[in-house]
Order: sequence, then structure tokens, then C-alpha cells
Amino acid sequence: MSDSILRLVKGFLVLGLLLLVPVVATFSNGGKKHDNDVENDKKETADTTISDSAQMIQDSVYATIDNNYQTVRHIFRKSCFDCHSDSTKYPWYHVLPFIGGMIDDDIKEAKEHLDLSNDFPFGGHATQIERLREIREEIADGDMPILSYRFMHWGLLIEGKRQDSLFLWIDESIKLLKQLE
Ligand code: HEC
Repeated sequence: MSDSILRLVKGFLVLGLLLLVPVVATFSNGGKKHDNDVENDKKETADTTISDSAQMIQDSVYATIDNNYQTVRHIFRKSCFDCHSDSTKYPWYHVLPFIGGMIDDDIKEAKEHLDLSNDFPFGGHATQIERLREIREEIADGDMPILSYRFMHWGLLIEGKRQDSLFLWIDESIKLLKQLE
């Protein structure tokens, strides 16, 4: 367990370095543009450089968060993927009339709120930060997975050390995402 936390922390340290690359690139490009005599060119190139590096920074932040996500993904897979991803393992009673339809409706609604199918960035409503906060809240309150599901699948609440490493990942990820705002 401490191993995976270490790996997580290391991952975030690596990001610090990654972030420096686009930032340095912006500044050094900015310097060059000053030497340029053509006013309009100057402005256009500077604009593109800024949006390009904003995109680069966002890409590297997302890549780092996704990279670190791989250390906690198994926790989500076990407790959340049945409803919040395309890899649902249907229970036998899915074949029953009404019950099957109810399960399908739950999954459809669940994925509209939060879709973990393609790893980070997650799909669903709201911004990435809002979504991470919601995930944290649902887990902290013991509200997810939904109760009806837990009747049939015991032990899927995320507690103890699994919760600690998940929350560490969420908190660090939110800090990184805030730098993009
Ligand atoms: C059995 C199906 C099921 C499982 C398993 C499940 N969820 Fe959900 N989840 C839902 C449904 C249905 C909704 C939408 C309705 C609601 O908010 O209750 C939802 C909504 C959510 C939302 C959005 C809440 C909001 O207020 O918008 C979050 C965040 C969430 N789930 C996180 C999780 C996490 C994290 C896990 C794993 C620990 C998980 N869910 C496991 C069915 C599930």
C-alpha cells in the first residue's frame, strides 16, 4: 500500500518537471517575438503560442493525472465500473423482466453523470474538478455504489487505505486542475 502511495507521489513530482517544458517554451518564444519587426505577425504568433502552450499544459496535466489514475483504477473498477463504464458485468437477474430494465436505466443514468470508460479525463456532466469533488463526496458519505446494488454485492464501499489512496489521487489531481483555471 505505501508502495502505491509512493508511486503516486513520484508521479506528481514528475509532473512538476513536465509543466516546466511548456512554460519555458512560452517564455523563450515570447523573447524571440520581441526581436521580430513585423507588428501583425508578432501579435498573431504570440496568440497562437499562448493557446498552443495552454493546450500543451492541459494535455500534460491530464496525462499525469491519467498516469497516476492507473494506480487507483482497480479500486474504481471493482466498485464503480459496473454502472459507470462500458464494461458492465451483468448479474444473472438482469434477465428477469422489469429488473433488467431497471438495471439498464440505472446504468444509463449513472454514465450520464460520470463515465469512467476511457480513463481520465472522465466523461459526464460538469467540469473535471466538479466531477472529482462529487466522486470524493459520494465515497466519503458512503453513498456510492448505490444501496440497491450493495445488497447484492458486499464489500464494495471504498473505505480505509483504499479510500486514503483514492482521496490522495483526487486531492492532488484537483490541485493540478486548478492551475489550468
Ligand atoms: C449499481 C450502479 C452504480 C454503481 C456500482 C455506482 N454508481 Fe454512481 N451512480 C449511479 C446512478 C444510478 C447515479 C445517478 C443517480 C444518483 O445520483 O443517485 C450515480 C451517480 C453518481 C455520481 C454523480 C452524483 C451527482 O450528484 O451528480 C457520482 C459522482 C458517482 N455516481 C460516483 C460513483 C462512484 C465513485 C462509484 C464507485 C465507488 C459509483 N458511483 C458506483 C449508479 C451507480
